[in-house]
Amino acid sequence: MQIDGKPYRTIWLNDDGWSVEIIDQTRLPHAFATLKLTTSDDAAVAIRTMQVRGAPLIGATAAYGVALAMREDASDDALSKAIAHLAAQRPTAINLRWALEEMRMALAPIEPGARVARAYGRAAEICDEDVESCRRIGINGLPLIEEIARGKGGKPVQILTHCNAGWLACVDWGTATSPIYHAFNAGIPLHVWVDETRPRNQGAALTAFELGRHGVPYTLIADNAGGHLMQRGEVDLVIVGTDRVSSNGDVANKIGTYLKALAAHDNGVPFYVALPFSTIDWSVADGSDIPIEERSADEVLKMMGRLPDGRVAEVEIAPLNAQAANPAFDVTPARLVSGLVTERGIAAASREGLVSLYPERWNKLGE
Ligand code: MRU
Repeated sequence: MQIDGKPYRTIWLNDDGWSVEIIDQTRLPHAFATLKLTTSDDAAVAIRTMQVRGAPLIGATAAYGVALAMREDASDDALSKAIAHLAAQRPTAINLRWALEEMRMALAPIEPGARVARAYGRAAEICDEDVESCRRIGINGLPLIEEIARGKGGKPVQILTHCNAGWLACVDWGTATSPIYHAFNAGIPLHVWVDETRPRNQGAALTAFELGRHGVPYTLIADNAGGHLMQRGEVDLVIVGTDRVSSNGDVANKIGTYLKALAAHDNGVPFYVALPFSTIDWSVADGSDIPIEERSADEVLKMMGRLPDGRVAEVEIAPLNAQAANPAFDVTPARLVSGLVTERGIAAASREGLVSLYPERWNKLGE
């Protein structure tokens, strides 16, 4: 994606050939700043503090975190420790564990002396594969928007999204946003309702930023506005991303997604979830077994914003000593999901639907 005319991915290798650069997402939308990761712990901190966030990007960063660890010590012990440390940073997005398992499979069987080169190679492949998956998600999701557009007589297709499942959450394109970018690039009139996504405001800070930079018309709304807009017929389609899909098609995503799915169901609005294969957890039978991250109460009690003098500051929004709870994800049951949009096509949110797209998993599921 382009920022001020320059093409960017969310993670790339520095010109020195070994350190890793990211866009510091904690600084957006007020500053576009990049950050250099030089150790595996830098990668772990970036994941934990959400300098990088979004399921596929967390995985890609962890992969490079293993490569950075191998530069310092490529022994079996160091490999196991680095993988365990990176895996412990965030619990819900399965892409983190998927990417680390890919790194383990690539590195464990080879000699320590060959591990650094292979680690960088596999991390780069994981990034490239994610870009291609997300591009394909866009191509496969585009007909959903085209079909709605045909019935709108030239009026914009109204799409609602939650959190940031855009290119900032992936390596490029995004998951939920990829069909939107493909439709916009194809000249289909559309408009996006962007949920602000409290408490961390990924919609306001990130989705609004990236849609705006691409020129996609959008309107930011409070999280609570979606149901009302759906009742008024002002939403044609909901598309969200996901951090983990269980093998029966239940979908874990940013807190508040479930309420949007309920409202969409009640109002007959199609509710689609976009994801790459690396977000499916075949080992989990249903969504009740997906671990839900509990984050700091501070994220609910405080908000970050820009002051009139241009400084960025954090303010308290609740009484001193207020108690707060901060579950970061929720699970939308498969029955509320109209379909899963993947790099292989669109399928029903069910075990059968997933297996129809990934038949090679059938034997393993049957075990
Ligand atoms: O806590 P975050 O910002 O990492 O949560 C991100 C989301 O919930 C996204 O919707 C999800 O990762 C899909 S990413 C394409």
